[in-house]
Formats: sequence, structure tokens, C-alpha cells
Amino acid sequence: MHIVDIITKKRNGEKLSKEEIKYLVKGYTDGTVPDYQMSAFLMAVWFRGMDKEETVCLTKEMAQSGDMMDLSRIHGIKVDKHSTGGVGDKTTLVVAPVVSALGIPVAKMSGRGLGHTGGTIDKLESIEGFRTDIPEEQFINNINKINIAIAGQTKNICPADKKIYALRDVTATVDNYSLIASSIMSKKLASGADAIVLDVKCGNGAFMHDTDSALKLAKTMTKIGNSAGKRTVALITDMNEPLGRMVGNSLEVIEAIEVLNGNGEERLTEVCIMLAANMLLVSDREEYFEDCHSDEERRTKATETVKSVIKSGAALKKLAELTKAQGGNPEYIYNTSLFKTAAYKIPVKYNNSGYLSYCDTEKVGKASLILGAGREKKEDKINHYVGIELLKKLGDYIGKDEILAYLYADDKEKAEEAESMILSAYEVSPEKPEKNKLIKGFVC
Ligand code: URA
Repeated sequence: MHIVDIITKKRNGEKLSKEEIKYLVKGYTDGTVPDYQMSAFLMAVWFRGMDKEETVCLTKEMAQSGDMMDLSRIHGIKVDKHSTGGVGDKTTLVVAPVVSALGIPVAKMSGRGLGHTGGTIDKLESIEGFRTDIPEEQFINNINKINIAIAGQTKNICPADKKIYALRDVTATVDNYSLIASSIMSKKLASGADAIVLDVKCGNGAFMHDTDSALKLAKTMTKIGNSAGKRTVALITDMNEPLGRMVGNSLEVIEAIEVLNGNGEERLTEVCIMLAANMLLVSDREEYFEDCHSDEERRTKATETVKSVIKSGAALKKLAELTKAQGGNPEYIYNTSLFKTAAYKIPVKYNNSGYLSYCDTEKVGKASLILGAGREKKEDKINHYVGIELLKKLGDYIGKDEILAYLYADDKEKAEEAESMILSAYEVSPEKPEKNKLIKGFVC
């Protein structure tokens, strides 16, 4: 087999065989296929696409390029959740303790944030003492003991994806359905869960800007998961403004705790409930659905069950247990005033009046990056305590000089830069705009 023939075939729009895809992924992972050939291949895929069969095959080959997590020592159906990335997305911090409190084992490998989107691991590390670098043995033992563990990736998971993603980033080949779907799903398959709930973000702060594209990506990913024998469903949720009110690591943990206390922001709470309900639905825990006779009844029951585990305080307690088991101070969960705060709390006053009609979500993410809450390069250090509190959401009225947001900053110069970024992110209109639909679709 020759790499040039594989590139030529794809360039001409032909379908690749399983053997050809395997040869390419293996060669690129072990270094025998150079970057320039892989770049040419990726660009050919960008123009010509891959069909479902090729995409499933690419995903499996990438998943098998490194270690596969073995979660067989954990009893019960393990359900994973993944979001395609957005601004202010702290749903994992809510959903993981909720489903764990319902008896579903949560074995979550999470990432750090990069660019304008945040990562669960960084957020958790804003709790004093919380360790996300726990060894595999402790990870498994904690799940068997308290039904939950959340850790950063320690094993050599999907080295092929690591190399290919880095190359896509510098060759303008990130935004392709097959490449995004295979990249995300290869990591999910290698992480060892039995079922997967995907949150495909849709809007100007996400990869997918419109519902049709998000649906297409969701269908590709669910097909990959299901054909690998893992029950996979996807929700398509709005990302035309940050999710919730807080953007920044400790601020997002505090907001997640508010949701677990039953007083979280409305849209954030709804997305969390829907995700957790779907995790319960795919978990095969029939004891929750004994009296249900239709899918509709099962969905309603799952939603009610999730709401009641939040109301009872059991989900919040689970977050405190998780914190303690991973070396953190559980008092933070019950008393959020313990979180360290940034040096300055600066109001951002709006320079116009009207109904907020548009938010450039990515700009809000970038403002938080400027303050130091995110990293531009993998090696960058982050500041856990800076960020943004949004006082207004799309559709709200704002008067001239009214406060739009607070910046939590440690550096006044950076705060000035972040302030102009936020002010330029919003537009107003004289009429009240319609709210963006929050849950835009469901794929199973
Ligand atoms: N996240 C990933 O892990 N891969 C992509 O291609 C896009 C988002």
C-alpha cells in the first residue's frame, strides 16, 4: 500500500477501504507517514468528505491507536457525557454528581480548557486541594466506593487524535463533520463507558453555527457510538450566548453549586436536567421506570427523578463526597464564600439602551481568556479566580449606563481590554427579540 495512492483516491472523491484507513492512521501515529502527507490527506477529506462507513472506521482506528480504558472492574452500566464545547459550559459539574447520586457510576476523564472554551479539570482545581491527577487504581476504587471520580487523562489515550488534531489546527481542516466526529468519538470509545450522552452545542459560540449542521454532526457521532455497541444519544443545545451567568473557573464551580442547591440560572438548570435525564434513560436502570408504559412516560419520569435528587440535596452531597475523595476541602461546596476571589470586581456599564438582541459568544469567551481564566497555548498557566459575571441575558432590557456584567480581575490593564471586548460583543434592538430555543433537537 502507498500513502500517495490513498491521498489520490480521497482527492478524487473515492471511498477508502478499512485497510487503507488503518494503514494511514497507524503510519501517522508511528511517524512513518510525515505531516505533509497527512496534511494533504486531511485537506482532501475536507473537500471530498468521508461517508459514514469511512468515518466509523477512522474513529475505531484512532481509538485503538493507544490505550483503551478498562472499566470492567466497575459494576453497572457506565454512562459518559460529552459536550462539543462552548462558553460558560459547567454542565459536567452538575450532571456528574446528579447521576452518580442516582446510582449510575460516573467514570469521567475530562480535559483542560484551550482557547475561549473552558475545561472541567481546570474548574475543579479551583477547589482547594482538589487533585485531578489521581492514579488509575484510585480512580477505579473511588468509583466502586462512592460511585464517582473525575480525572484528567493519564493514560496514552488516542495518540493518533492528539497528532491529527494538532495538525488540523494549523492546516485549516478542523471544521469537517467526519474529522470532528471521529476526533471526539475516538476519545469516548477509548474511555471505556457503556453508553454516551452528547451535548452538541449550536450557535455562534460553538463549532456548529446552525441547527442543520449541528444535527448532521450529532447524527454522525451517534451513528459512530451505536455502531461500536455503545448506546449513544445527542441533544442539540443553544450556544448563542454563554450558558448561565458565570464564565471563569471558580465562578463556574460556584454557579454549578447554585444549580445543585436548586437556585441556578433557568436555562443552565434546564440543560443540566435534560442531560442528566438522558443519562438516566440510557443507563438501563429499570427500577426507575417500572410504572412507565411509553417513551413519553419514561422521559417524564427521568426528568422528575433528576429534579428530586437535586431537591433532596443528595446531588450536592455527592459533589462534596467527590471533592473529599480527591483531596479537596468539601466545606467549599457548602460555603462558597471560602473560594478565593480576584483582586478587583469591576462593573461594565453598557453604552446604549434597548433589548439585548445579539451576543458574540466567542468574544465573551475571549474576554475571559484576556483576564487569565483560559489558556492560549497548552503550556499556559491559568488564573482560577478571574472571570465574568453576566447580569443580563439575551432578551433582557438594558438602560444606558446600566451594569451589563462584572469583571473579576487581578490586573487592571487586562480588565480594560476585556471590558471593550465584552461591550463590542453585544447588540441591542428597540423591540424585545424572541428567545433562542434552548433545546434545538434530539438524536438517538
Ligand atoms: N473537540 C475535539 O476533541 N475534536 C474536534 O475535532 C473538535 C472538538
